[in-house]
Amino acid sequence: MQERILIIGSSGQIGTELVIALRQIYGDENVIASDIRSSSEEVMSSGPFVEMDIMNEKLLRKVVKNYKITQVYLLAALLSAKAEKNIAMGWQLNMRSHSHVLDLAKDGLIKKIFWPSSIAVFGPTTQKENTPQHSIMEPNTVYGITKLAGERWNEYYFNKFGVDVRSLRYPGLIGWKGTPGGGTTDYAVDIFHHAIKNKKYECFLSENSRLPMMYMTDAIRATIQLMEAPSKKVKIRSSYNLAGVSFTPKEISKEISKHIPNFEISYNSDFRQKIADSWPHSINDEQAKNDWGWVLEYDLEKMTNDMIINLKKCNVPI
Ligand code: NAD
Ligand code: SER
Repeated sequence: MQERILIIGSSGQIGTELVIALRQIYGDENVIASDIRSSSEEVMSSGPFVEMDIMNEKLLRKVVKNYKITQVYLLAALLSAKAEKNIAMGWQLNMRSHSHVLDLAKDGLIKKIFWPSSIAVFGPTTQKENTPQHSIMEPNTVYGITKLAGERWNEYYFNKFGVDVRSLRYPGLIGWKGTPGGGTTDYAVDIFHHAIKNKKYECFLSENSRLPMMYMTDAIRATIQLMEAPSKKVKIRSSYNLAGVSFTPKEISKEISKHIPNFEISYNSDFRQKIADSWPHSINDEQAKNDWGWVLEYDLEKMTNDMIINLKKCNVPI
């Protein structure tokens, strides 16, 4: 049977790259991008795009039926920093969009769902280093609370209704194609743009704030690998830990300096510092490795090199 994929929130940092990767595998016409705003030229010109607000459940069902959708990737959400600025919207968008999509599968309209979770499900009481898959989870941000509730919802829908939902707890994601949408880890993308354009950057986190991060190429590969894994190999239905590479603003700035020798970084922490301080420093992803064969490719050095080469080539605006 021909898979037909709907990506909701496709104009954001992840969607911009995931749409293209999925179109290369499943064919341009079989991957439908959708968002409340238009996407990059590459996404808009390579296949179908539907303007859709995920809060409109009736329209969602109509789109799913019209395009004969079999799988949904739900990327629409308010990220950590933005959600702290608009708590009500963060809660409503993150929770209701998820219920709308889970119910599509429960009602037999689609076969498979990808819904991303985050390192934000962990909180100040979680073990900071090498955080295990099963750990204390007491998030203290609205974003983290919606992600934890979403994970419990995933497992509930899988156990109760047999919904094939798959999920990853992404670390902070770093890529050169899309711009980040309002998270606490956004500094690790902004720093590259500023380094190339101005040779200096004022960081909103302190120099030793260590956080788990991942290059977008690895994140996209992990997502597709999990979605294509045989169902019996997907033993975690809440969400899988995914480790990536952990570093501090000081360490990434040192790596960037190897390419841009006169690069300067300064620090001026804002409200996002408190969010970063509540998250783990590093993640244990043994379960993803064991269950479906996950292997990381990009370390800090390789990622920095690739980011700088690509940003210089395409002159992406800040
Ligand atoms: P983003 O903010 O860049 O993109 C989200 C997209 O959703 C935007 O294009 C926005 O226009 C769209 N959107 C917002 N409201 C909508 C609505 N009502 N209907 C339809 N679309 C709407 O986010 P992202 O970085 O691409 O993240 C995607 C998902 O991955 C989110 O669930 C996020 O929590 C998760 N995640 C991201 C990261 C990261 O570092 N980027 C890390 C962990 C988890
Ligand atoms: N990168 C995301 C954020 O900072 C983590 O989910 O919000």
